[in-house]
Amino acid sequence: MRIFGAESIIPSMGSFHKHAKNLILRIFGPENLRLVLLQDVQRTAQASLLSWLDLPSVELKEATSSMIFSVTAKRLISYDSSSSDGKLWKQFDAFIRGLLAFPLYIPGTAFYQCMQGRKEVMKILRKLFDERKKAPSRREKVDFIDLLIDTIKEDKLAMSDNFALNLIFLLLFAGFETTSSGITAAIKFLTDNPKALQELTDEHENIRKRRASPDAEITWEEYKSMNFTSCVIHESLRLANIAPLLFKKSKEDVHIKAYTIPKGSKVMVCPSIVHLNPTIYEDPNVFNPWRWKVCELLYECEIAEPLGGASKDFMAFGGGLRLCVGAEFAKMQMAIFLHSLVTKYRWKAVKGGTMVLSPGLRFPDGFHIQIVHKY
Ligand code: HEM
Repeated sequence: MRIFGAESIIPSMGSFHKHAKNLILRIFGPENLRLVLLQDVQRTAQASLLSWLDLPSVELKEATSSMIFSVTAKRLISYDSSSSDGKLWKQFDAFIRGLLAFPLYIPGTAFYQCMQGRKEVMKILRKLFDERKKAPSRREKVDFIDLLIDTIKEDKLAMSDNFALNLIFLLLFAGFETTSSGITAAIKFLTDNPKALQELTDEHENIRKRRASPDAEITWEEYKSMNFTSCVIHESLRLANIAPLLFKKSKEDVHIKAYTIPKGSKVMVCPSIVHLNPTIYEDPNVFNPWRWKVCELLYECEIAEPLGGASKDFMAFGGGLRLCVGAEFAKMQMAIFLHSLVTKYRWKAVKGGTMVLSPGLRFPDGFHIQIVHKY
């Protein structure tokens, strides 16, 4: 609560939580994904790949963080990474380091650094928010700040400025840190699995060949037809365990098998225990995207809903009422990036690529790759 702010979507409940989620979905929900974000993501992915071309080495986690931040921040706060110093996302670095640390607020501790990181970002956001609040109302609502300011002014939800600011902060963070890890992990798994990479490449080459003009923009229908890509994404997220822990509180006594979790208990859910359980996933440590394909063909399977959000066997995006609101956006960004990459470029690993859970997914030496034109 101290890290994300006491007044935030995380502890909110009931209808207020539902309204806050609906507000987020106005920006990152299915309609905007199809009409606005598909194009944004595609253009940004293509421009980023082009700018990395022929560099001796690109550290993928950092490069994709910056790329994704620019897409998300544009829609949240109209942030233009090309006209600003492009480094707002870097301010989150100190924040991330202490995210799951012992909460000791003394200079030098990871928690202290985390809170300093939060302070820096919040200062920038508050300035932006106050300026926008004072400015005359824009007729065309262009970003999330506008939406929040309108909501506050209309006073429909009794939403405070602090809640709004904490929400922007959370979305900026959740939007880039998780998805960039997902992409980096997927590329690392594909680098180590040429057979999977070949099948993925074939899927995207075929989409490209079916177009009247091979370089035309990806359509929503094409995106929805990326079945093997979806398997690769699910398998990468299963193994990467980007969200290492979920915190819950039981609202009533919960009976599970022979146990009772008493009302009011704080429960820490650890998704990797499920994702690496050999009774659910055969050879759980092996990157095997085809295990998801079986589900898709049979429409019934032991594992999880193949293309959907969550189940008791797949909780990379959490589940239930708290299911990640950005899940579809994240999966789309991963798929579009993979499409843009494998249709035009080849890459080779240069350095790093080791993944550790400590406790969240980290790449201690980064993952450095070199990208070259395919043809
Ligand atoms: C691969 C990428 C992502 C992963 C693995 C991920 C994971 C998760 C998980 C596990 C939760 C549930 C937390 C809980 O139950 O306590 C969650 C919630 C959330 N995520 Fe994501 N996320 C991703 C991308 C995104 C993106 C792109 C956004 C926004 C643009 C986002 C925004 C949120 C928000 C606002 C919540 C809180 C929902 C609520 O409390 O109702 N996430 N995410």
